[in-house]
Amino acid sequence: MEVLEAIRTRRSIRKYKTDPVDDQTLNTVLDAARWAPSWENTQCWRFIVVRDSATKSKLADTLDETNPARDAVRNAPLVIVACAELGKAGRKDGQIVTDKGDWFMFDVALAMQNLVLAAHSLGLATVYVGRADAKEAAKILEVPEGYCFVALTPLGYPNQIRDPRPRKELAEIVFYDKFGAD
Ligand SMILES: Cc1cc2nc3c(=O)[nH]c(=O)nc-3n(C[C@H](O)[C@H](O)[C@H](O)COP(=O)(O)O)c2cc1C
Repeated sequence: MEVLEAIRTRRSIRKYKTDPVDDQTLNTVLDAARWAPSWENTQCWRFIVVRDSATKSKLADTLDETNPARDAVRNAPLVIVACAELGKAGRKDGQIVTDKGDWFMFDVALAMQNLVLAAHSLGLATVYVGRADAKEAAKILEVPEGYCFVALTPLGYPNQIRDPRPRKELAEIVFYDKFGAD
């Protein structure tokens, strides 16, 4: 699938078929994440592929009952958890060099978006999940000190078709020469 088509047609999917994802397809998706750019190429991202049903279920319980992705985390064939090594992104010679602090969220997001678009191009579905109990999820997955849980996505074949959600018009979000100017 061409990249612009993938960007335009990707949707957050919250219902999954039980069909498995083969290892080659999974590796293609993970490899796309690996090619994302990162702060000084520090590649702070780490990914945990969760196949075990009991672990998926425990992770689903880290989403509150109002989170619409809860069942998807429990039922999709795979869950990909994105973690970050802390203290790498946003630094020069070990010192934080911007007002943003650690840039791990930015770098992990870039890798996740590669992963999500690659998955979509292969007919797979995803939905970012950020609204979870990150500390509890890290505990379940035995994420070591110095790393943190950032987000996860179920991964599998879609069992629903979704219309696009609305987006702001370019005129609302793009300015020329200075903020707010047409
Ligand atoms: C950082 C981030 C966190 C998100 N967290 C959740 C979540 O916890 N649960 C959920 O169902 N969707 C979550 N979403 C999905 C958004 O609701 C979705 O991307 C948005 O409504 C636009 O829909 P679309 O992805 O189909 O274009 C998250 C998306 C992002 C980017």
